[in-house]
Amino acid sequence: MTEGFASRLQPVLDPFALAEALSGVHLIDGQLVASSQRFDVVNPATLQVIAQAADGDAATVDAAVTAAVLAQGPWAKLSARERGKKISLCGQLLQDHVEELARLVALETGKAIRTESRVEASVLSDIFAFYGGLGSELKGETIPWKPEVLTLTIREPVGVVAAIIPWNAPLLLMALKIAPALVAGNTVVVKSAEEAPLCVLRVAQILQQALPPGVFNLISGDGPNCGGPLCNHPQINKITFTGSVPTGRIIAHAAAEKLIPVTLELGGKSPMIVLADADLDKAIDGAVAGMRFTRQGQSCTAASRMLVHRSLVPEFLAKLKGRVDRMIMGDPLDERTDIGTIISAQQLATVQRYVALGLQTPGATLHECSALPTQAPFNRGRFLRPAIFTGLDDSSPVVAEEIFGPVTAILAFDDYEEAIARANTSQYGLAATIWTRDLKLALDAVHRLQAGFVQVNQNVVVQSGLSYGGIKQSGLGKEASLEAMLDHFTTKKTVLLNFA
Ligand code: NAI
Ligand code: MG
Repeated sequence: MTEGFASRLQPVLDPFALAEALSGVHLIDGQLVASSQRFDVVNPATLQVIAQAADGDAATVDAAVTAAVLAQGPWAKLSARERGKKISLCGQLLQDHVEELARLVALETGKAIRTESRVEASVLSDIFAFYGGLGSELKGETIPWKPEVLTLTIREPVGVVAAIIPWNAPLLLMALKIAPALVAGNTVVVKSAEEAPLCVLRVAQILQQALPPGVFNLISGDGPNCGGPLCNHPQINKITFTGSVPTGRIIAHAAAEKLIPVTLELGGKSPMIVLADADLDKAIDGAVAGMRFTRQGQSCTAASRMLVHRSLVPEFLAKLKGRVDRMIMGDPLDERTDIGTIISAQQLATVQRYVALGLQTPGATLHECSALPTQAPFNRGRFLRPAIFTGLDDSSPVVAEEIFGPVTAILAFDDYEEAIARANTSQYGLAATIWTRDLKLALDAVHRLQAGFVQVNQNVVVQSGLSYGGIKQSGLGKEASLEAMLDHFTTKKTVLLNFA
């Protein structure tokens, strides 16, 4: 495999040096393209500027889309297995960069390296390996329509895909879009999030070693001035987006104007139902992992509504608080750190506003956990103590709205029917979990919970091979599976061959 990679890109383990080196460029048509417009990339743990990202506009978009259009024909002409091999090779290349990417993610997003950033950097190559093996699954069907007519379907790429990604798990969420899109024969233009433009740019640079120029282009810039022109570009044939509901609506409007398909992975307010007979210790493990306390709750599947049987509430609260209290908040690059920072000043203000709203509610109690770092320069960083509320009712904005921060509510219920009804009141429907030893109730809940991803007695995150995506306001379409590639990155052509 090393053959042909004489000048193979070497990992850069100093994230500060790597951030500098990635300053001011987009990756278009296989080249790093300098931009005269730039914006600061800030380390959220210290508020120091670590790089200047290229600030793309409509002209940048046009250059990237043009490159993707030119590359698409030849890319689609490769056999599907050949494309799959290249995507598998992408996975292998990324494997050599896990540590480098882990440090860069920690630096630019503030996610703790041991608990979050390295985990994310490690799963990246698995997604490419998974989709790389699916080239030969781009199959059609034969249909017994008439004996003298051979009737069949073939799958074709949609063309040029625009992918707009967020900052909370940039590597993972980008991989879930580009790997299936590319295997299916599309070319891609990704616009990164303003808060996390560097790690994904590094991935784009690494993958150029395995991909022809123009197949995968990555540009950075803000939503309205770069994301907007990308979604509205006449030569874009499909949009795939992960982010907020309001931006999802803007993007769906753009897709509607052009009548092109769109996949939306939006927010959530995922219920975790703990019945009276649950294995409490297992449920506590699930609550800690499910609420993504180590990621400051910045996850669309965060278990931010914990519906706990009233008899268990005191013990559940004490154990959960005890666990989160023991977590160390601090330097995201320090191996001892469990919890890093909130991504941006705007997100921090939003989360603090929700905490203040919760505090104003009569009968509510705020249980703050862990401790803020006190040493410079981290005492300036965007750290926030994880917050568990009790005594809130379902109408509180803390319970009803997505906060996207380390804030959860323990909500007491008295019977199973009440728990299911309350779980389903949400406008969202991304994920749900139920914790019980009662098989019959678990199965009943699986059928009745309004969510795209339902788990019993566990709470794992998105996995290669398992369709992932929400209903209601949580979005449209699925990611992470074979079905996601076939349904969202190909179109079916029906062919009739008359031999009469
Ligand atoms: P956002 O949805 O505004 O940003 C996500 C991406 O969309 C970024 O790349 C951004 O530049 C782009 N974007 C923004 N406006 C655009 C436009 N008009 N046209 C095209 N692209 C546009 O999310 P933001 O502002 O970072 O966070 C706000 C809230 O969104 C969070 O508090 C959270 O509730 C939710 N969110 C959900 C995520 C998820 O995983 N489902 C991820 C990130 C945020
Ligand atoms: Mg926004």
